Amino acid sequence: MQLTHSYADNNLTEALRKLSHPVHLAAAGPNGNPLAVYVPSLTPEQLGNQEFCREIDIRYPYLGGSMAKGISSVAIAEELGRAGMLGFFGAAGLPFSTVEAAVDHLAGAAFPCGFNLIHSPHEPDLEAALAELYIRKGVRLVEASAFLALTLPLVRYRTHGIHRDAEGAIIVPNRIIAKVSREELAERFFSPPPEKYLRQLRDEGAITAEQAELAAQIPMAQYITAEADSGGHTDNRPAMALFPTIASLAGRMELKFGYTVRLQVGLAGGIATPTAAAAAFAMGAAYIMTGSVNQACVESGTSDTVRRMLAETRQADVTMAPAADMFEMGVTVQVLKRGTMFPMRAAKLYEIYRAYDGMDSIPVAERDKLEKTFFKATLADIWRDTHAFFQKRDPRQVERAEREPKHRMALVFRWYLGQAAHWAKDGDPDRTIDYQIWCGPAMGAFNEWAAGSFLESPDRRRVATVARNILFGAALLTRANFLRYQNILLPADFIIKPLEDIQIKEYLA
Ligand SMILES: Cc1cc2nc3c(=O)[nH]c(=O)nc-3n(C[C@H](O)[C@H](O)[C@H](O)COP(=O)(O)O)c2cc1C
Repeated sequence: MQLTHSYADNNLTEALRKLSHPVHLAAAGPNGNPLAVYVPSLTPEQLGNQEFCREIDIRYPYLGGSMAKGISSVAIAEELGRAGMLGFFGAAGLPFSTVEAAVDHLAGAAFPCGFNLIHSPHEPDLEAALAELYIRKGVRLVEASAFLALTLPLVRYRTHGIHRDAEGAIIVPNRIIAKVSREELAERFFSPPPEKYLRQLRDEGAITAEQAELAAQIPMAQYITAEADSGGHTDNRPAMALFPTIASLAGRMELKFGYTVRLQVGLAGGIATPTAAAAAFAMGAAYIMTGSVNQACVESGTSDTVRRMLAETRQADVTMAPAADMFEMGVTVQVLKRGTMFPMRAAKLYEIYRAYDGMDSIPVAERDKLEKTFFKATLADIWRDTHAFFQKRDPRQVERAEREPKHRMALVFRWYLGQAAHWAKDGDPDRTIDYQIWCGPAMGAFNEWAAGSFLESPDRRRVATVARNILFGAALLTRANFLRYQNILLPADFIIKPLEDIQIKEYLA
């Protein structure tokens, strides 16, 4: 289609970048008649669901997901919070006192933030202690993840303080954003808390009979993040297939239970570019959540060595490897494979674990190799350390390991997997080839997009700058699509490139 009222290409691109200004064009229609072409204003706060943003008190529909061991650090939560977004502190795998310190640090913040409440099937006491900590400290928002079913501590967190206000509306002070990749689980989170747990809490005096009755009318989680193929623990679900399923479930569950609140679905997994973000919002995501790309930013709690490795990661440089926490069950996590032998070594350990009854059955040559290359110590020495560790943390593990050689082998192998994440996070120079770095394909997509710009350099990557660029670019692309849908060719110079914060500010002015 011919433009009659022409913007020079550059002017049209510039006009599109001024997101808060509508663009009007006159084009020649099929029979030569003038045709009005229109691109509405679309700013980053208009992407996603504004009701969701209002409810959790953020300006932009952008969440930084929890990253274990404080990789999603206090600094990430602060930077995203100050930028009008939301960050979750990565509480998983940290000593209790470190989580408590992070909660205290962020307690007085002038912006919202959240904490990870991770399901720990092997350490139920830890999960309960975390839930209690969050209740005691008045943490109002958690990211519940890795749950295979709902648990008592989670229900206790959700229902704590539930009441009716003066108008009779049910007020639920504690909010849960649940991260799931399976519809069965989403269904449980969108349902009211299970009756058996409400009864138990009531019997224990944790909630009153009236609170139990109110709790039966609310969803366990009003918000669900559908997690597609991502860094770390992942079911490798494709976003395009997962999101519509969970979004449609939200609609059905709302009708089924007649909730007075709207259920909302956000999307995580694979999002690190404006294009991916625009696709998520086009599918109806209430918000987007990022992970991998934030680990590559200066504020993350990992090492500079890891940040440099992540900056060189390409699309196919990630793979699945056995997970430390659910090693025996064959659970895997998505990790970086470029520049580290961790995925191969972890897979080898799993193969050996499957093949033998205990460490004494491993053939001598194989055992020698493990001791020299993987462990850099004898397996007996590692067992001594592991024994001491579990003696303090969970003596039941030691008792079982003493009875079952295979369990002892699992604990020793899990030592390597666990340490591999620490070596990476601490940037241990002697262990680079053993680094376990959780990472998804989003990292490669981001690097490709950032190539040649200031964001190529690892020390220029700031979480809020990256986030603002992803949102700005998503809005820009969506505006450009309005032209495409009206059969107008995009200007030849149209490109979504990373912009400095000051440029974004000017375009939004
Ligand atoms: C280094 C790393 C650690 C993670 N640790 C956790 C965690 O402890 N708890 C959690 O709920 N999700 C965890 N995730 C998942 C992220 O919160 C987020 O959902 C995911 O990374 C989004 O997908 P993406 O990696 O494609 O951006 C982790 C992800 C990464 C990259």
